[in-house]
Amino acid sequence: AKEPVRVLVTGAAGQIGYALVPMIARGIMLGPDQPVILHMLDIPPAAEALNGVKMELVDAAFPLLKGVVATTDAVEACTGVSVAVMVGGFPRKEGMERKDVMSKNVSIYKAQASALEKYAAPNCKVLVVANPANTNALILKEFAPSIPEKNITCLTRLDHNRALGQISERLNVQVSEVKNVIIWGNHSSTQYPDVTHATIKTPEGEKPVPALVNDDAWLKGEFITTVQQRGAAIIKARKLSSALSAASSACDHIRDWVLGTAEGTWVSMGVYSDGSYNVPAGLIYSFPVTCSGGEWKIVQGLSIDEFSRGKLDATAAELAEEKALAYSCLS
Ligand code: NAI
Repeated sequence: AKEPVRVLVTGAAGQIGYALVPMIARGIMLGPDQPVILHMLDIPPAAEALNGVKMELVDAAFPLLKGVVATTDAVEACTGVSVAVMVGGFPRKEGMERKDVMSKNVSIYKAQASALEKYAAPNCKVLVVANPANTNALILKEFAPSIPEKNITCLTRLDHNRALGQISERLNVQVSEVKNVIIWGNHSSTQYPDVTHATIKTPEGEKPVPALVNDDAWLKGEFITTVQQRGAAIIKARKLSSALSAASSACDHIRDWVLGTAEGTWVSMGVYSDGSYNVPAGLIYSFPVTCSGGEWKIVQGLSIDEFSRGKLDATAAELAEEKALAYSCLS
């Protein structure tokens, strides 16, 4: 039998946490033959709710779940974890300045970076979900210099999956037949959902999405804005964030990273830019990646047309501005 893997979820008493921990305990993140020990971190005001989640995990009697640590102590939470899913953060409240929200999250991610760096297992894989996800991941990277930068990522898989879903609905095909959309850039409304290279599996082989949709105005307009604004649309409908789909996509992100992507298929991940596609190095930016042997690699050599170039640059500019704001909160 495999040794259990310790998986950290921060903000575990929140909306996404509540959807995510049972998925992990059922093997959706690491596979149906991989036992897990869940480490759940939240802050003292949520300690009682966190304990309630722990009680439910016991009650659900998940065969793969070999232990639960529920704590408000970051050191205890981070000790020995091989996967860290960072969902905890400070939400923007009405009337708050952007800089104030950034400042709160910078201090949270700086502190948690240090705890992970000191106490997590070597080669721990980190996924930041909490917003501003890219910039929180960048701060985490800066303050955990001994964690390899390739191990620190942020979630744009939800946006990727939303793009797959929109194309599937539009073409009336199964979502499993759609592949190779791309989310470029920031997990924000400047992200660029790109279907230039996406395909549909048909009985006659793979066909390009742009030709099948055959409506450039929709692809360059409503499709993009629908994906960009889907999070807000869910909040409007549910009065709560898109917790189910965020949790499911976080599992997809880690599963593909650890177990590999299918041959000929790429996914989107926010990763530390190496300057590929002329995206400035030193930002956490969403790229198309393939994964194998527990490592991601940016897909190279895709053609970028003029329309796409403008979109890639605009979301990079926003990330550079967020980075500057985050750094101004440090001093
Ligand atoms: P929520 O407010 O229900 O839960 C957040 C939890 O984090 C709360 O339990 C809170 O007590 C906890 N928390 C706050 N500070 C903490 C700290 N320093 N350490 C540990 N825990 C802490 O929020 P929800 O709906 O679960 O969303 C979580 C985050 O995920 C938000 O920032 C949201 O914007 C983001 N999000 C990101 C998505 C993505 O695709 N990247 C998609 C949807 C949401």
